[in-house]
Amino acid sequence: MGIFMRLINYTEDKRLHDYSLVSATLALLFLALFLLLKKEWSIHSSTKFPIVGIESPGYFGLVKAREKYISDAFHIVKNGYHKYRGKNFVVTAHSYDKIILTSDQINELSNAPDDTVSFSHFLAEVMQGPYTGMDRFLGTNYLAEVVRIKLTKSLGTIKEAIIEEVRFSLDTELLGCTTDEWRSVEIFILILRTVARTSGRVFVGLPLCRNEDWLAVSMAFTGDLFMAIEKLERIPKPIRPFYTWIFNSTKLISLHRKKAQTLLGPVIRERLEEERLAKENGSAYKKPSDMLQWLTDLVEPRHKNTKDLSELQLFASVASIHTTSLSFLNVLYDLAAHQECVQPIREEIEAVISANNGIIDRAALHKMTKTDSFFKESTRGQIDVLSFGRKILKNVTLSDGTPLKQGTLVSAPAAMFSSDPDLLEDPETFDGFRWYKKSLEAESRAAHNSNWTTTSAHHLTFGHGKHACPGRFFVTEELKILLTFIILQYDIKYPEGESRPATIKYGEAIYPDTTRKLLFKKLPGPKKFSFL
Ligand code: HEM
Ligand SMILES: *[C@@H]1O[C@H](CO)[C@@H](O)[C@H](O)[C@H]1NC(C)=O
Ligand SMILES: *[C@@H]1O[C@H](CO)[C@@H](O)[C@H](O)[C@H]1NC(C)=O
Ligand SMILES: *[C@@H]1O[C@H](CO)[C@@H](O)[C@H](O)[C@H]1NC(C)=O
Ligand SMILES: *[C@@H]1O[C@H](CO)[C@@H](O)[C@H](O)[C@H]1NC(C)=O
Repeated sequence: MGIFMRLINYTEDKRLHDYSLVSATLALLFLALFLLLKKEWSIHSSTKFPIVGIESPGYFGLVKAREKYISDAFHIVKNGYHKYRGKNFVVTAHSYDKIILTSDQINELSNAPDDTVSFSHFLAEVMQGPYTGMDRFLGTNYLAEVVRIKLTKSLGTIKEAIIEEVRFSLDTELLGCTTDEWRSVEIFILILRTVARTSGRVFVGLPLCRNEDWLAVSMAFTGDLFMAIEKLERIPKPIRPFYTWIFNSTKLISLHRKKAQTLLGPVIRERLEEERLAKENGSAYKKPSDMLQWLTDLVEPRHKNTKDLSELQLFASVASIHTTSLSFLNVLYDLAAHQECVQPIREEIEAVISANNGIIDRAALHKMTKTDSFFKESTRGQIDVLSFGRKILKNVTLSDGTPLKQGTLVSAPAAMFSSDPDLLEDPETFDGFRWYKKSLEAESRAAHNSNWTTTSAHHLTFGHGKHACPGRFFVTEELKILLTFIILQYDIKYPEGESRPATIKYGEAIYPDTTRKLLFKKLPGPKKFSFL
């Protein structure tokens, strides 16, 4: 205001006249530009697809839409999904636009070659790769390969380790829980620590998996990484490098990296040394059976060092610990809310293990079909708004004629599919045995497989196609073991007057409230099986 007053006060009449002429011209120019840009900005310029979430015209409308996307992507995608049914539309965030795909397009892209349609380039871009280091192993598929080839195949042998770790963890975390009294438990912490320990046992082995410092790093890295990403996303692209340099927004994750190297370094060096010695002596080196070893064997020589192998371990934690923990938190929240499902699941698990001579193995776990159905229902629409993110690396034209330009990001509206009454009966109702019933129907018609691990263009909890989550078979077995330990030994319920907490939707993320408590009470009677 002050500067305007001064301008006018110091201006003679004639200059005032000139000044208003200039202002009028400028205003007209702005108006023209505004109208032009409005057109440009509400239609995605390179594809002509509509952008959703824009409520007011012009640049400010665009900025507002992007701001809103950070807090409420769910409703923006939902509106687009219903408004442009079966067609493409675009969502816009501060860092990128994403084209939302139709189910036919998802199927078409699901097995496209990596040099054309890339999952890792997508991750590197949305995870702010240049600043967070999440682009370090671009072009390699180390983790996916190790999980797909080694982890999934080794379940038979690592099962004992998982059982031991779950037992140790629950005995520690639920110490003193009795048959007479309900005990209040910070349930997310319990699950997170148990999952981190179990995953850790499989990833780095004993004794490191029980080291509190390692546990802390493997749990905290993910959270701090996503916090850094969120901060960076809000900063306009051009000034992001300066911002990062001044505020060091990735400081916390750098510290975790250093800590991981300090902890893993001695283990890695010792293993490499033992292997070298054995080779020299001509004796056989008995390799440990864990992810660290599989990665060491798989990576190219230039990555066979502490820095890169620790980094890959941290990536493995990011891919697995929170995803698994939050899924299981949903399962326990739903079980506590649907007590009518508890007994059937308990009976199924008992029957299956009894019939298998009291032994948990892969065959037994596969037969827990009601449990599998409950997992699938509990995670339906509860993971993220979008899934199946890919970056287009070469211009492609889809079979329906849609051109996708090099550099474009695409995604699938996973949460919309899983709540669409056209695709799913009565989607608003939680039905723990929905998929179990479907599988019975399917048996007679030899129809669609309704296992939790089966992906399709509409079942995207684990993505779809060649990059679908390779950890999903491990997760299913790990969580079935964990549930067996809990449900055969404890009753769970909500504290008086509480019920299932509302699902939290923030940006593209969907997750359960992690702050609530559940009550645990030990079941009476002797241990049902010797492994417990
Ligand atoms: C309930 C838990 C989990 C969920 C919901 C989940 C979900 C996903 C999703 C949605 C993707 C992307 C797939 C796509 O876009 O097609 C993915 C990829 C991946 N997940 Fe999982 N995941 C889980 C647990 C795990 C675990 C335990 C591991 C490791 C042991 C793991 C390792 C991976 C890897 C390595 C990839 C990348 C695959 C590739 O690059 O081809 N995940 N996961
Ligand atoms: C940020 O902080 C970490 C940890 O203190 C340090 O290692 C890193 O070099 C810093 N980065 C920049 C850009 O200053
Ligand atoms: C290899 O031989 C050295 C002595 O030459 C010995 O100290 C070491 O224990 C041997 N290592 C193995 C793995 O056999
Ligand atoms: C998937 O379902 C089929 C039958 O519908 C069953 O035979 C198979 O064991 C299941 N697989 C898993 C991994 O649960
Ligand atoms: C991809 O298509 C765009 C136009 O949509 C064009 O400008 C660009 O040159 C193409 N790139 C390649 C590598 O063909």
